[in-house]
Amino acid sequence: MATSGSSKGQLPLITVLGSLNMDLVSYVPHHPLPGETLTSSRFAVSPGGKGANQAIACAKLSRSSNHTSADDPTATARVRMLGAVGDDTYGTQLLSNLSRHGVDVSGVTASPSLKTGLAIIIVDEPTGQNRIVLSPEANHSLLAPQFARPSSLGDPLPDLLIMQLEIPLPTVVAALRAARDARVAVLLNPAPAQELPAEAYAGLAHLVVNETEASILGGVAESDLDTEAGLEAVGKTFLSRGVLNVVVTLGGRGVFYLSADGQKGLIPAEKAKVVDTTAAGDTFVGRYALEVVSGSFNIAEAVKKSNRAAAKTVERLGAQDSIPWRDEL
Ligand code: ATP
Ligand code: RIB
Repeated sequence: MATSGSSKGQLPLITVLGSLNMDLVSYVPHHPLPGETLTSSRFAVSPGGKGANQAIACAKLSRSSNHTSADDPTATARVRMLGAVGDDTYGTQLLSNLSRHGVDVSGVTASPSLKTGLAIIIVDEPTGQNRIVLSPEANHSLLAPQFARPSSLGDPLPDLLIMQLEIPLPTVVAALRAARDARVAVLLNPAPAQELPAEAYAGLAHLVVNETEASILGGVAESDLDTEAGLEAVGKTFLSRGVLNVVVTLGGRGVFYLSADGQKGLIPAEKAKVVDTTAAGDTFVGRYALEVVSGSFNIAEAVKKSNRAAAKTVERLGAQDSIPWRDEL
């Protein structure tokens, strides 16, 4: 079996298996009501997709803004993306943005018979909150048999595999099994929310959910998460299913965490001038992942640093463009 990147004396390797989308973003004075036609005050086409955003977050937050290449001598991790785009303009732009930030894209296929994934995003300017309609396209061409064996996770194996749910669920479950067989730690960010089979939780190292995901996957009302006791109860549900570290991101309220080794806490959000919350969760995941592979993981420290990084992202427009570099924190 292949060994992991860091066991060969190199920088730790984070692999992200997930989506790449081009984001079509309209900024509006309020979210449209049924039947209403709105004129946007600004429109942007910018690189996104939860998978690619999290890969970019790992890359930017492990490098400084003046050293952006993959072989940056100051980098603290290597980042690899596994995914699929169409052989079209958006696909080319997404791949080139990842490469520019030092992400290895040799595991992303570009197929002439598929279109690149798209996300239509409407951002409410007064609050910075978004509403998103996703068209998965090439992201849904990633099928379970492709990820059934540990070798599909790459050689060397990653020190951490990150996944979300913008690719087919059976593919995620297959990769979880492959990672378990290869003893690769997994960080699962089950977004957008879908119920998961019991096996997905067994031995899962890190589960990062927002309030909606915690409520759907944990089987509780979102209002139950208004109190620390309610957050602890849902956290314990995930621990009882076999998760080792549970993190619930709470938007402007901050973050709750609970670990199987008895640590827990509620960290308030940093003060921020919110303009667009898109990719706040992805930034959180990227910063947290870097702590996981740092060799000195402590959940309380990881959550604090990730909370700080995500607060920067909400102060800027866009997804990948809004994620801070390491030296901006
Ligand atoms: P998105 O889908 O918009 O990327 P999400 O729903 O996955 O986000 P949230 O819980 O909304 O995730 O936000 C993730 C983290 O970002 C929060 O836990 C917090 O650290 C930071 N954050 C979000 N909103 C704010 C805010 N208004 N002020 C400061 N920090 C924020
Ligand atoms: O998490 C933010 C991302 O969700 C956006 O970039 C968009 O592509 C959607 O997938």
